[in-house]
Amino acid sequence: MAPALEDPISIAGLDVPNRLYRAPLLECAGEGPDAVDVLREELEPAAASGVGLVCQGASPVREDTGHVAPNMTSFADREFVRGLRPLTDAIHDHGARILAQLDHGGIRSLETWHAAYREERSAPEQLAVSPPPTPLKLLDAAGVLSYDARVLSTEEVYELAADFGRCAEHAVAAGYDGVHIAGANMGIVQQFLSPFYNARDDEFGGSLGERVRFLEVVHEEIRERVGDDVPVVTKVPAETASPPFVRSRLSVADGVRIARRLEAVGFDALVPVEVSVFWDMSLIRGEYPERAWSDAQFREGYREAFGGRIRPRLVALAHRLHARSQSFDPAWNDSFCARVKEAVSVPVLAEGGIRRRTQMDRLLATGRCDMVGMGRPFYAEPRIAARFLRPEGDETDAAGRSREGDAEATCENCNNCTVPQVTGAPGVCRTPSVLKETGKLRKEGAYESAETDDRGA
Ligand SMILES: Cc1cc2nc3c(=O)[nH]c(=O)nc-3n(C[C@H](O)[C@H](O)[C@H](O)COP(=O)(O)O)c2cc1C
Ligand code: SF4
Repeated sequence: MAPALEDPISIAGLDVPNRLYRAPLLECAGEGPDAVDVLREELEPAAASGVGLVCQGASPVREDTGHVAPNMTSFADREFVRGLRPLTDAIHDHGARILAQLDHGGIRSLETWHAAYREERSAPEQLAVSPPPTPLKLLDAAGVLSYDARVLSTEEVYELAADFGRCAEHAVAAGYDGVHIAGANMGIVQQFLSPFYNARDDEFGGSLGERVRFLEVVHEEIRERVGDDVPVVTKVPAETASPPFVRSRLSVADGVRIARRLEAVGFDALVPVEVSVFWDMSLIRGEYPERAWSDAQFREGYREAFGGRIRPRLVALAHRLHARSQSFDPAWNDSFCARVKEAVSVPVLAEGGIRRRTQMDRLLATGRCDMVGMGRPFYAEPRIAARFLRPEGDETDAAGRSREGDAEATCENCNNCTVPQVTGAPGVCRTPSVLKETGKLRKEGAYESAETDDRGA
């Protein structure tokens, strides 16, 4: 029988109470003494309202390089990560599980695009898989990006992989239930996988098999430090949303081959995502965030981030043009997920534009995935799971209708929450009409779960 959203699932022996998860989203919690409180405030409501699995947003494996946005929370310092124990305890108290996502941005990092960050460090280098490809060099020449790429030696690639292993160990010691690798979104893992970026001639470049090697070594390093019982999950990219002029890219068939290989080396679950080779709106399909770009409170922050008055305008223009080709597409990764699901036997996690309960039921019932996740809707409705999951003993129909009928997220995919994050602002919904709707639902008791939390989580 097809699984229901409320059915438990095991990921490499980790019992997850149901199949709904919070996809990784930047929390911008920083590395100060209050980071644990910020993370808890952000993530605990998801667990309190019933999600089975919380995926924390990307955490860089190094303190000094590879942060893709301001205010990220690196997992490189063991003592600091140990201090996150109240967060993992709180998630567990609600019966949910939590994964730490590890990342390095490579040539997508602050070192490339954040003007104030570059100025403070006087033109820092980016760790690179290979020299930047021609389109990025052109953007550098046009003054839109700034590359001082330093290509990793073979030995340095091993050192970077070892950092993923060390951070995984820190996470597990702090109570995280598993490790999630930021394998897409143009981070360094995708840069190794992608023929667009990877022109290496050592063991980490060449054929697809050689380009997967970095992820294999990351996996080995993690296993060596945390053993075989801790689930290790990764996003798997297909670069199908790249602009047509990009000839060298990962196809869906490549993505499926990568997934097969990752299962063979021991990854425990896979998250297939169709993205671009560029850091663009393909991973957050939706509208051009008019309100966020014109909001006066962020104007100075945009100037600091992008440098001067002209660059923010150029970025906004590119954003506007790109939004036209990457409009919202419900459950946009579903056919890639279905292809991966046919090819592997480990759990496949689907995310990207999933907004309705009946859509989730269809994805699970048709065997396209084993778990379903949402990202932005958790910014709009931190306790959204209470509206999507049927309480135990609830006699709702087999079509998966919840208490309110076919529950639908209030998030409008307007992306007003995304741009302010370049200034280090927290990830919260910034669209008044959506906040109003959420407030109304709250008053009606829609977010009360079987376990409504006294602390307002
Ligand atoms: C503001 C923001 C931050 C994100 N941060 C991460 C991240 O840290 N790691 C990651 O793998 N994906 C990240 N994503 C992608 C989400 O995990 C998810 O795949 C994407 O938002 C599509 O799902 P949605 O349509 O439900 O929002 C981010 C997305 C947004 C909007
Ligand atoms: S601002 Fe609110 S409605 Fe718009 S995408 Fe973000 S969470 Fe959704």
